[in-house]
Amino acid sequence: MHHIAIFASGSGSNAQRIAEYFADHPQIEVSLILTNNPAAGVIERGRQLGIPVIVFNRTQFYQSDGLLEQLQFFNIDFVVLAGFLWLVPENLIKAFPERIVNIHPALLPAYGGKGMYGTKVHEAVVAAGEKFTGITIHLIDEEYDRGRIVLQAQCPVAPGDTPEDVARKVQSLEHEHFPAAIEKLVLNQ
Ligand code: GAR
Repeated sequence: MHHIAIFASGSGSNAQRIAEYFADHPQIEVSLILTNNPAAGVIERGRQLGIPVIVFNRTQFYQSDGLLEQLQFFNIDFVVLAGFLWLVPENLIKAFPERIVNIHPALLPAYGGKGMYGTKVHEAVVAAGEKFTGITIHLIDEEYDRGRIVLQAQCPVAPGDTPEDVARKVQSLEHEHFPAAIEKLVLNQ
C-alpha cells in the first residue's frame, strides 16, 4: 500500500477530492493531512473523512525534523501539496525526491512565483485580459513553482469574467485532473 500525505493551507476542497478518489483504492491511501493554518477548513474536512490531521508552525516546519519523523511514522511515500502556501524545506525535498507534487492555479510559468497564489493569481489573469488560463500540476524542487510539469489543462476566460468566475473554472479543472494525476505519479505510470 502507498501512503499519501496532503499539505494544505486553506479550504481543502482538493484534499477532500483526493481523499474521496482514493477511499476504496487497492494500492493508495491518504493517510495524513498536514496544515500550517490552525483556522484552515481542511482540518474539519479531515475530521469528517476520518484522516488524521497535524497542525504545525513555522519553527516545526523549518527548524526541526519533527514533521519528517511524523511522515516516516505514517509510512508516507508520496506528498501532495494542495493549496499549500509555504516553501517546502530542503530536508523534506531530499527525503522525497521526485515524490512531492504541487498544483498551481495557472498555466506556469505564467502567473507563478512567490506571492502568486489563490485569488491573486486569478486577479492578475483578469487584469491582464488573458483569454485562457488553467492549472499546472508539477513536481517540486527548492524554488516556488518550478520543477517538472506533469500536466496542464486550460479553460477559457470570457470577457466580463470576474476573478471569482475564473477561480470557479480553475477549481473545477483541479478537481477533475488532480486525483488521477497523483495516481499515475504514485504508481509510476
Ligand atoms: C487551489 O486553487 C490551488 O491551486 C491553490 O490554492 C487553492 C486551494 O484550494 N494553490 C496555490 O495557489 C499554490 N500556489 P483548496 O484549499 O480548496 O484545495
